[in-house]
Amino acid sequence: MPSHKAKTLFFKLLAMMPNKLGYFIYHKIQEKSFKNIESRITANQNSYTVLKKILRKNNIELIDANLVEIGSGWFPIMPYFFKINEKVDTIFTFDINKHYSNKRIRAVHDSFGITDYDLFISNGFRLPSFIKYFPKQNIINAKLPKNIKLYYSRFVLEHVEPNDIEKIHKKLFKEMSSKSAIIHLISPSDHRAYSDSSLSYYDFLKYSKAEWNRIQTKFDYHNRLRLPQYLEIFTKVGFKIAFLEYDKVQTDSHKYKEFKKLTIHQDYKQFSEEEILAGSINILLLKP
Ligand SMILES: C[S@@+](CC[C@H](N)C(=O)[O-])C[C@H]1O[C@@H](n2cnc3c(N)ncnc32)[C@H](O)[C@@H]1O
Repeated sequence: MPSHKAKTLFFKLLAMMPNKLGYFIYHKIQEKSFKNIESRITANQNSYTVLKKILRKNNIELIDANLVEIGSGWFPIMPYFFKINEKVDTIFTFDINKHYSNKRIRAVHDSFGITDYDLFISNGFRLPSFIKYFPKQNIINAKLPKNIKLYYSRFVLEHVEPNDIEKIHKKLFKEMSSKSAIIHLISPSDHRAYSDSSLSYYDFLKYSKAEWNRIQTKFDYHNRLRLPQYLEIFTKVGFKIAFLEYDKVQTDSHKYKEFKKLTIHQDYKQFSEEEILAGSINILLLKP
C-alpha cells in the first residue's frame, strides 16, 4: 500500500477514537518525528530569512516591538529567531491546541545556545520571559494583547477552514492599528506529497470537496485554497496586499509533468495554471 494511503487509514482510525485517546496517540506518533530538531531549526531559519526580506523591503522595524504568532505548533523556534535577530520585546503565541512540551522547549533553548535568557515557569511551561504562550485558544476568540506591531503565521492558514480565515482577518482588521502588519507564510500544496514521493504536490486537486473530506481528517485537515481564493478573502475584509510572492512551476520540471498527469477537478477549472500551481505563498497585509 502506498505510504500516503497507509497514513490516511491510520488517521481515519485515530479520528474514530474518542477525542482524547485519538490525540494522545497522535501526539505519541508525532514525537517520533521530533528527533531531528536541527532540521526543524534550519527549516524555520529559511522561513525567518523570508520574513526578514519582507520586513526590510517594507521598512518594518521590530526593535522592542511586540508580536503575535498565530499557530505556535510544537516548538517555539520562530520566536527565538525574532528575539535574537530583530531584538523584539515579547512574542505572544496562540494555538488552538496545546502542543508545546517542556522537553521540546529545553531542546530548542539548548540548540540556540543562549546563556542570557533564563527559563521561567508560566502556565506549567518553562519558557523564556519573552515568549508568552496561550495554548488551547482559537485566535478567532482569543483576547489579543494591544500594541502589536506584527501578527504572523507560518504554515497555519492552509489548515484553517476558509470561513475561519475570514473571521480571523475580520478580527485582526478591527483590532490592529494602521501601523501594524500581518505576514503569512502559506503552503498550499498537498502535504501528503512531502512524505510520499509517488504523489504529485497537486494530487488533492483531483478530488471533489466531498471526496477530499472523506480522505482527510481533523489530524491532517487542508483547505486546498488556491492563491486567488486567499487574496479574495483578504481583500474582501479590507486589507491591502502590500507584498506577495509565490513559487512558480517551470514547465520542463518533474513537478509540472506530474501535475499534467492529473485530471484536476471541475472546482478548480476557473483558475489559470499559474494560479493553481502557485506554491509557498508569502504575503504581507496592511490596513489601508
Ligand atoms: C502546521 S502547524 C504549524 C505550526 C508552526 N507555526 C510551525 O511553523 O511549525 C499549524 C498550527 O496552527 C494551529 N492552529 C490552527 N488553527 C488555529 C486557530 N484558529 N487558532 C490558533 N491556532 C491554530 C494548529 O493547532 C497547529 O499547531
